[in-house]
Amino acid sequence: MKTVIIGLGAISETHIAAIQHGEFTTITAVCDLKQERVDAAIQKIGDANVKGYTDYKEMIDKEKPDVVHVCTPHYLHRDMAVYALEAGCDVYLEKPAAMNAAQAMEIVEASERTGKKVCVSFQNRVIPTNALAKEIVSDERYGKLRGIRAEMTWSRGGAYYTESGWRGTWEKEGGGVLMNQSIHTLDLMYYLAGPVRDMEGSVALRRNKGVIEVEDTAEATIWFESGIEGIFYATNCNFKDSSVQIELFFEKATLLLYRSALYLANGNNLEKLIDNTDYSAAAGKACWGNGHAMMMKRFYDALCGSDDWYCDIKDAVPVLEMIDKIYETSKNKLR
Ligand SMILES: NC(=O)c1ccc[n+]([C@@H]2O[C@H](COP(=O)([O-])OP(=O)(O)OC[C@H]3O[C@@H](n4cnc5c(N)ncnc54)[C@H](O)[C@@H]3O)[C@@H](O)[C@H]2O)c1
Repeated sequence: MKTVIIGLGAISETHIAAIQHGEFTTITAVCDLKQERVDAAIQKIGDANVKGYTDYKEMIDKEKPDVVHVCTPHYLHRDMAVYALEAGCDVYLEKPAAMNAAQAMEIVEASERTGKKVCVSFQNRVIPTNALAKEIVSDERYGKLRGIRAEMTWSRGGAYYTESGWRGTWEKEGGGVLMNQSIHTLDLMYYLAGPVRDMEGSVALRRNKGVIEVEDTAEATIWFESGIEGIFYATNCNFKDSSVQIELFFEKATLLLYRSALYLANGNNLEKLIDNTDYSAAAGKACWGNGHAMMMKRFYDALCGSDDWYCDIKDAVPVLEMIDKIYETSKNKLR
């Protein structure tokens, strides 16, 4: 297949590494507004036949790729995905699918109209620990899931935002810790506990006041349709990045996802059920790479006719509805 990539910043390196590692497609062209990033990516790919562009529409029109990878800032996702779909391409789209649920639904409609597929990069769903947690929820070996607690406490300083030219703004990032970092954690809550009946939350800006407009801290209480109760907390104001924690309260046991492992709580001890350390060689940055390679492989296999599950655009809308709801119910209005 012929694959092209739009946006050649940090995450594009993981896409390139995952494709080269998995060998499920060939990168034929790349695009970025910055010519030096185009040149660097071509050099990294190491294939002189790869074409470089600074205009994504021109690249899609001329190259007629099978699959377009969208690795650009959030405000561009909807338009780029819809353009690629209408040009007859399938799309591998970075998270968040769009700036809000309504925009993401426009991508769903374009996908249905054109009969082309969109996979959204919620790669954490497929890594072994989270996949086993999902299996345990489904087979009810510890009884029904009754409660879920999720916490993401990371650190982001001013330079992280100012150097990017888009992060930290409502116009281009569309939100802060919710839209960018903890969207994976909220998505896992939805993936494990199912559709949401109602939720209430709040947002705050605590650390980089005067540097960014968006929230760097958020919390929510979530009532799932199945009766599961959830609490969620996320901040970018921690001293440094801690491991994401997700605690799952079943009728007969408590499980903990923590530091790349899934544990069964046994009295005061934690018994490790599985960890992520010995699955396929890292493709790109440790915390992103392997999951990306696994999700991409599933998507490309599905494009070749397999029944492999991948995160379809429709599955990526609920987390945006959850984020919309946190902004809507927050008494502190930042936007
Ligand atoms: N799935 C994950 O775990 C994960 C991890 C990191 C980033 N991401 C997502 O990847 C996306 C990109 O993030 P990043 O950290 O790589 O950002 P980045 O700022 O490092 O890179 C974005 C690139 O897009 C380019 N760009 C901007 N406008 C463009 C246009 N009109 N045409 C072509 N190129 C354009 C920029 O020049 C830049 O090189 C975001 O949606 C982000 O949330 C996902």
